[in-house]
Amino acid sequence: TSADLEAHRLGGRIGARIDGVRLSGDLDDAVVAQVRAAILAHKVVFFRGQDHLDDDAHIAFAERLGTLTTAHPTVNTGSERVWTLTANKGMAANSWHTDVTFVDRVPAFSILRGVTIPPYGGNTVWANTVDAYERLPEALKALVDRLWAVHTNAYDYADRDESEHHDDEVAVRRRAQFRSTHYETKHPVVRVHPETGERSLLLGHFVKELVGFNQRESSTLFNLLQNRVTRLENTIRWTWQQGDVAIWDNRATQHYAVADFGEEPREVRRITVSGDVPVSVDG
Ligand code: SIN
Repeated sequence: TSADLEAHRLGGRIGARIDGVRLSGDLDDAVVAQVRAAILAHKVVFFRGQDHLDDDAHIAFAERLGTLTTAHPTVNTGSERVWTLTANKGMAANSWHTDVTFVDRVPAFSILRGVTIPPYGGNTVWANTVDAYERLPEALKALVDRLWAVHTNAYDYADRDESEHHDDEVAVRRRAQFRSTHYETKHPVVRVHPETGERSLLLGHFVKELVGFNQRESSTLFNLLQNRVTRLENTIRWTWQQGDVAIWDNRATQHYAVADFGEEPREVRRITVSGDVPVSVDG
């Protein structure tokens, strides 16, 4: 038995904070079901004060949401299940993306725990890709419903920005490892969510090209859609405290880790729950 869990909305289109839940592997089934429902409804949910979680407890809770993936398909994370993201050298996730879209089975959920939070900056921002789709003009929906995109890990993180660490030795080594096995996978640009039935835009920084268009047309169309996803009204920005946990529906969001904390330390740890092969509107 458990009281109905309360999700406090944080934005008009995405994001809620859940209070009064201590995340663990032993949560009641009813509570886990409510947490899952809140993630599906709000796309990203936040919990404060989960300092009791270590890697094992983080894993035990994550397993309540589904089968876990390996920590990362190519990066040597030093752990089977946990990806520790530190600093910003060459691996700062400061461009809009959905996690690991270059594989067939795009992860369903990511569960991120704040371990070391810088004194300023280092926020993460999420965008609602369902809402972005729903607000498209009907004529554009009809076009994107039939589009496919090629996703690859050859197009990662720092590549597209003005990262100050671009030529840094550590950065170069990290990026080389990120690409050590080449993935290239086609996904529909509009996917039908396996649990909610909602349609969403599946894009982000691993997209190499849209199938059937030349590079210039492809990036014009990509930018048009991507701008819809990332407009500020469609986002929620979280200021981390140590012990916070963020859980997002990776089938309905993109996110961006803001790299504005200089040389201050920042460490977050991510566990990823397996998902399905994205299904297009044609099934
Ligand atoms: C990620 O892209 O999963 C990392 C997000 C973050 O570091 O805040």
